[in-house]
Amino acid sequence: MYLNFYGLQKKPFNPTPDPKFLYLTPSHREALAQILYGVQEGKGFIVLTGEVGTGKTTLIQTLLRRLDEKTEVAYIFNSKLPFDALVEYMLRDFGITENLSSQSQRLFALNNFLIERRRTGRNTVLIIDEAQNLDAAALEQVRLLSNFETPTEKLLQIFLAGQPELQAKLDLPELRQLKQRISLRCVIRPLTQEETYDYIQHRLHIAGGRRGDIFTEPAMSRIARHAGGIPRIVNTVCDHALLFGYAEQKRRIDRDTIEQVIAYIEQGARPAQAKQTWNSAGRSGWSMVKAPFQWLSGALAALLLLGFMFLALRFNALEDFSLQVESYVVEVLRSMFGVFTMFLQAAASAFLTR
Ligand SMILES: Nc1ncnc2c1ncn2[C@@H]1O[C@H](COP(=O)(O)OP(=O)(O)OP(=O)(O)O)[C@@H](O)[C@H]1O
Ligand SMILES: [Mg+2]
Repeated sequence: MYLNFYGLQKKPFNPTPDPKFLYLTPSHREALAQILYGVQEGKGFIVLTGEVGTGKTTLIQTLLRRLDEKTEVAYIFNSKLPFDALVEYMLRDFGITENLSSQSQRLFALNNFLIERRRTGRNTVLIIDEAQNLDAAALEQVRLLSNFETPTEKLLQIFLAGQPELQAKLDLPELRQLKQRISLRCVIRPLTQEETYDYIQHRLHIAGGRRGDIFTEPAMSRIARHAGGIPRIVNTVCDHALLFGYAEQKRRIDRDTIEQVIAYIEQGARPAQAKQTWNSAGRSGWSMVKAPFQWLSGALAALLLLGFMFLALRFNALEDFSLQVESYVVEVLRSMFGVFTMFLQAAASAFLTR
């Protein structure tokens, strides 16, 4: 394991939505503040959207930790359940375990539960993660749940989180009633390049890392370019990079390692292979260009050597053999020049297709 090698206490780039690692960009911070406010103040319907892997579930987990004990929560993360099963799941999560065979019985029990909670000064929240999976009919039924109310307040806060498709669904004409009821809308955005650098350092720090230089600047820049601001992709690349770096006993993760990792993730190429073959699938950018350049400098050196020999023969004392050797050298030079041109073409095309 790489933990000791890099001076870490725990894995910094786990794929789980662990709130201990939460990194707040301005959009994450604002969304969290709004959701907390919305839930605590009984704002009714709240919607959070963000691209895949940008931290919606991590924000929900953070919210769950920040809510006080006066707030009762049902958290549904399997939004592919049919609506009836969804209600059943919600009741179980609220601690209502009696056997209720029909949907009307379940809704009745839910109503009683909500009224009782309100009477004792408690707040009740339903959180549905991955809500983009709900179809229009299910979303409309979720809206009906928001009808549990007294003349003065909503009894159930509903918080939907999902990918941008959720927003598109909420824009459907048949869901305009639901759309009208949304009181808070929050969007989290992918990280900028600077935020990606910070995010990497932040996670390393939380994992107990005291070194701020495990990833070189060019390595982080390559990660940022590849991840396009999506934290989950940053995590995957960084975790593999630490593993590859450890295997090669590199104290600092450089750009070359990141190229290998990206090739590995995208095409399954193993790092050792990535360095060996020229022009084979699974290799990337600089490591592809580096090998021909090494060959190129060798060829150039040989060419220069032959050039010197040629000049020496032309003006030197070995006149007996000079004509014969001269034509031989010219021949060799010509083929070397051919090879040299081939290398130049190969290197140039590799450079252009990086
Ligand atoms: N703001 C953040 N701070 C710390 N880690 C984050 C953040 N955003 C995302 N991550 C990390 O990225 C990974 C994906 O995060 P998460 O599961 O919360 O994304 P999501 O938006 O819910 O994705 P999906 O759309 O697939 O449900 C997790 O490992 C999580 O720890
Ligand atoms: Mg999620």
